[in-house]
Amino acid sequence: KIEQGLRPSHLSEYIGQEKAKKNLRVFIEAAKKRGEPLDHVLLYGPPGLGKTTLASIVATEMGVNLKITSGPAIDKPGDLAAILNNLSENDVLFIDEIHRLNKQVEEVLYPAMEDFAIDIVIGKGAGARSIRLDLPKFTLVGATTRAGMLTAPLRDRFGVVNRLEFYNVTELMQIILRSAAVLGVSIDDEGALEIAKRSRGTPRLANRLLKRVRDFAQVEGDGAIDYDVAKTALDRLEVDSMGLDNTDRNILETMIHKFGGGPVGLDTLAAAIGEDSGTLEEVYEPYLIKNGFINRTPRGRIVTEHCYRHFGLENLIE
Ligand code: ADE
Repeated sequence: KIEQGLRPSHLSEYIGQEKAKKNLRVFIEAAKKRGEPLDHVLLYGPPGLGKTTLASIVATEMGVNLKITSGPAIDKPGDLAAILNNLSENDVLFIDEIHRLNKQVEEVLYPAMEDFAIDIVIGKGAGARSIRLDLPKFTLVGATTRAGMLTAPLRDRFGVVNRLEFYNVTELMQIILRSAAVLGVSIDDEGALEIAKRSRGTPRLANRLLKRVRDFAQVEGDGAIDYDVAKTALDRLEVDSMGLDNTDRNILETMIHKFGGGPVGLDTLAAAIGEDSGTLEEVYEPYLIKNGFINRTPRGRIVTEHCYRHFGLENLIE
């Protein structure tokens, strides 16, 4: 069961991701008209942009149940077979981090996606035979931070593929105003804008920052969030004017001070800051690249002039 909380439950309440939303609206309506499950949907992009939320909206809009699991949680082919067999007709199965399914499990998924059936081998050696078990029809919604990490046969079995994008400040501000209303906290546009600017293009972070700013507003103010309250709280949370947090700053400052601004390889950098290289590449880097703090080159990552300026280190620009 997913924590509903601030998540919108219908497509009409979902802010941003206009391209994905527009397409999904058509595909959902068409599938409903035909009385069929929606085609399998792949959602990819950096974490926190609403992949789980969209999966739950798809289920609600289709009027079916949502079952949530993740790649690493499915150990054995039998685990997946049990999950699939327990679905009701046209249900949505959400598999987060789908690129982390192991090979044996993934191979069960192919016929399940394609023919709504699985092949079960009974017996061993010469006496072994395979029987086909029909499954309820279902929609698989797969989520991954990087579509490039999916195997081709898996990727090819998704009829709908959507890349989720970072949100702009206006969209984040709308999300924050909506969330504040849901939480019953008073906030003005300037307060919402300040939180939006520092949310790394990410609704999950926007909502988290909103809750923390609310704490400051309630304990040290009159409970209402305006520009001053937001700014003071966010400064105390060490989220800077561009939304960079301590880890972001550690990455950039390490590149500048230990590696002369780069180029530095991903693994070398990850080791230097004590982060896992996958996390560095999928969680931290996308926002830093999108906002022009670092660039990828064939010889490794480099920091940009914009990055030096952000830290007041113009003197280091060659
Ligand atoms: N809460 C989190 N993400 C949201 C979105 N995209 N729209 C509305 N509310 C949200």
